[in-house]
Amino acid sequence: MTSITQSASWKKLEDHYKKIQKIHMKDLFENDPDRFDKFHINFDTTLIDFSKHRVTDETIPLLLNLAREANIEAWREKLFSGEKINFTEQRAVLHTALRNSSNQAILVDGHDVMPDVKNVLDKMQRFSESVRNGSWKGFSGKKIQTIVNIGIGGSDLGPAMVCKALKAFGHPDIDPIFVSNVDGADISQALEQCDPETTLFIVASKTFTTQETMTNAFSAREWFLDKVNDEKAIALHFVAVSTNAKAVTDFGISPDNMFEFWDWVGGRYSLWSSIGLSIAIYLGMDNFNKLLAGAYEMDQHFLNTPLEENIPLILAVLGVWYINFFGFNTHAVLPYDQGLSLLPSYLQQADMESNGKFIGRDDEYVCMHTGPIVWGESGTNGQHAFYQLIHQGQDIIPTDFMMPLKSQYKVGSKQDEHHKILFSNFVSQTRALMLGKTEGQVRGEMFPTNEDYGDLEHLIKHKSFEGNRPSTSILFEELNPKTLGQLIAMYEHKIFVQGVIWNINSFDQWGVEYGKQIAKLVLPELNASHATTIFDSSTNNLINNFKKNK
Ligand code: F6P
Repeated sequence: MTSITQSASWKKLEDHYKKIQKIHMKDLFENDPDRFDKFHINFDTTLIDFSKHRVTDETIPLLLNLAREANIEAWREKLFSGEKINFTEQRAVLHTALRNSSNQAILVDGHDVMPDVKNVLDKMQRFSESVRNGSWKGFSGKKIQTIVNIGIGGSDLGPAMVCKALKAFGHPDIDPIFVSNVDGADISQALEQCDPETTLFIVASKTFTTQETMTNAFSAREWFLDKVNDEKAIALHFVAVSTNAKAVTDFGISPDNMFEFWDWVGGRYSLWSSIGLSIAIYLGMDNFNKLLAGAYEMDQHFLNTPLEENIPLILAVLGVWYINFFGFNTHAVLPYDQGLSLLPSYLQQADMESNGKFIGRDDEYVCMHTGPIVWGESGTNGQHAFYQLIHQGQDIIPTDFMMPLKSQYKVGSKQDEHHKILFSNFVSQTRALMLGKTEGQVRGEMFPTNEDYGDLEHLIKHKSFEGNRPSTSILFEELNPKTLGQLIAMYEHKIFVQGVIWNINSFDQWGVEYGKQIAKLVLPELNASHATTIFDSSTNNLINNFKKNK
């Protein structure tokens, strides 16, 4: 297949890039009072402002032509209709079916998956309600007060992020804990907070074979049996979320306590499935349904809105513009909301595991950069850590700033004050990044009276900013289940569009397998009495050092 880089739309973008690469955004704003009007989209209560980007009136249409030339509309149809677009694993990609509230059937191999989805949602509803209202009792007759989700990657990050973001909606008497790392510190610290009589463990793993999750799950089981000494009690304190019924039964969890999902749900797209059980218990099924409803609204927007007004599409092509034409290969996610502090980690997996690929759908090397390095931190904390580099570093980092207009919290008499300070920081950062500050401005600020400040003169260069650093601003009414559902689905579709343009399979993850494979060879070596010699000298010596110190 001919690469998209040979297409007419790519060539036009290359020419356009040469023309506008040096244009400064501050001039674009000065010369066009309507710039904001042209470059923003409203969606429900959310405002997406992409006017602080290095684009002119011509850029977005050219970029959208590229998406058209990559057949985005046809691919979108394939995604939603359950075609097996994850071709290396022969799987459909149907996280959208999990939140499909229309009556439309969705077929996988001729089978309508919607009744299955509905059954699992009903089972989640019954179970989560019983835990929340206390009718589900532990072995000693007490109510559940702590839920421990044991999972990793997609079986951890989504539920952990959502539960943290929506803590204000959480059950007041239930604490959610998330254990993911195989480092014994993680499960040990979690268990220190648990009472076996009132704790429910949710073992969440699509495959139910993931080493970290299974090790943690067995340790939790051992801890529980040590304290309780009654195998029968396990049924009241351990449930599983998985696609692998046999492995769940082998672990000792009865099928009644298993919440199913399916191979057409990718791990990093699974929070909408029964992997969201911890969300349903902590926030309640009503709120879980609102999360699904928000995502469904974004799905409909993505499906039905013309490309020019289509939020995931615009965000995706802006990313392609920076990565493939400007060479800006990282992307920062900067939520001005402490609840969203796990969103950067969540999006790291969603984006980097999806689009960090160098082989295309045609089995050939992709001759351009693909997924960006995604990173970030909540504002204003990040401002006091890495924003220096975003403002004056040599790499230009496109950023997503986001913030709710209303806070979920009232802080004494100063509730408004906190939020105003937060917002003033948010908006000022985006303006500073766009505008920059010339040496002339710095001189004027430092020496307003034109006095001779001698040695201070050399500081002028240090205090100036070139600006022209792009950001998207996302403002939504408040952080609630619906807006969060919209936001996550927006990013999912953005990532999908980029994968289509780069012609990669965004839904497999072979890259994570190799390290796991080697770990399986290393583990027996750690138990052997002889010195390890089978690897390279670095690996052998690291292993032998570990053994010596045990
Ligand atoms: O190793 C990567 C990965 O396969 C992710 O894609 C997935 O989310 C995670 O591991 C956990 O997998 P599982 O849910 O099967 O335990």
